[in-house]
Amino acid sequence: MPVAESVFLNEGGFDPSKPELIADPYSTYRYLQENDPVHWSEAMGGWLITRYDDVRKVLRDPQTFSSERVTTYFGQLPQEFQTMASVLSSWLVFLDPPDHARVRSLGAKAFTDIVLQELQPRLGRIISETITPLIDKGQFDALHDLGYPLAIRVTSELLGVSPEDVAQVDEWEVKVSQFIMGVFMENKEETARIHTEYLVEYFTKLAHDRRLSPRADMLSALVAENENEEQDRLSAMEVISVATQILTAGRDTSALWIANGIYSLLEFPEQRHMLWDQPDMVPSGIEELLRFLGPVELLARIVRNETTIGDITLHPNDRVYLSVGAANRDPRIFDQADEVVVTRNPIRHVAFGWGPHFCIGAGLARSEVRQVFEQLIAGTSEIRPMFDAVEFKPNFSARCVTQLPIEVVAR
Ligand code: HEM
Repeated sequence: MPVAESVFLNEGGFDPSKPELIADPYSTYRYLQENDPVHWSEAMGGWLITRYDDVRKVLRDPQTFSSERVTTYFGQLPQEFQTMASVLSSWLVFLDPPDHARVRSLGAKAFTDIVLQELQPRLGRIISETITPLIDKGQFDALHDLGYPLAIRVTSELLGVSPEDVAQVDEWEVKVSQFIMGVFMENKEETARIHTEYLVEYFTKLAHDRRLSPRADMLSALVAENENEEQDRLSAMEVISVATQILTAGRDTSALWIANGIYSLLEFPEQRHMLWDQPDMVPSGIEELLRFLGPVELLARIVRNETTIGDITLHPNDRVYLSVGAANRDPRIFDQADEVVVTRNPIRHVAFGWGPHFCIGAGLARSEVRQVFEQLIAGTSEIRPMFDAVEFKPNFSARCVTQLPIEVVAR
């Protein structure tokens, strides 16, 4: 059956600032997938790609579709933005080969070693310290009382941020991440510059301390990569870049997987009861929740060499937006794409990206979110919404409920 033309596409094409699309982009995605899969959006100044196969094709071809999309913009800023420009433009998500492969392999090694040896064994306890008091209380906000505090604690402990600094570091991080995500801010460049410099100063001092007396944390492991005498090593600035990126990448994503996931289960009570009755389905169930309403909605790339997708020719310097949210609901790949089906298997979603930039934190996030749901199910017989409708943040790069008050019935 042909999909009705979307009422939300006007002359400017897909406009992610429209409240109707923020609330529900899915019928418009379906229309685009069928009629205009490589869609020119005047409002976004680029091509919006919505089909699953096209999204994967772009993600696995860094030679044609570059991730280095901030250098030109930073190059136009005055000299005092130099520190911010060099730290943020070395974030893994903005690097191309060969730098990407070098920084990623060294960063991933430091990450994996610390996660496996230090964090994993403590993760269950960290989660239980967060979730048990909330279950005892009987009511809480799944985003602000559970998702964020847990994700912030996990990334802080991973990096080695000391408990008394966590709130301050998080405040700085939020400003930098809002800038990167394109959230509206007064004096956005200046605000981002100041807060990036606070973070750089903080992590530079911490790196100095760890150089003198290493601990079992990721910053110490990154510093060791910097001191490595072999040719391939991280520069001092790259150590700070990787640390600040981990701080940002691990915060909203895991928090939103938890909150969006609980929201989705409240919308599909039968699926929720199935999961509560059979907790061994949690590992596949949480993948389905990520497919259905994951935190990352859009990824961006810049075309390097002329190429085609379907009938459309893309030219060098064209901006390309990949709708992860649309790809994960593509009916060519997923039956009942607009429904939560916790038994769905195998799950081929692109919520963690694909190809050389595939999420480094996927294993940690999976383990964190799996244990959250296992502990929630073990501790409660039912969860109920304490809201009539949810709102999504007006930020289209991330799909994000603003709050999620729920009531839980302890077992
Ligand atoms: C629900 C949880 C998460 C989701 C959905 C998610 C999603 C993603 C996606 C889509 C990318 C690819 C970006 C691109 O191709 O441009 C990515 C990259 C990345 N993620 Fe995650 N992420 C999650 C959790 C985490 C966590 C917990 C960490 C670390 C603590 C992390 C660290 C990273 C890093 C460092 C990259 C950059 C990899 C690269 O560019 O080579 N992520 N993530």
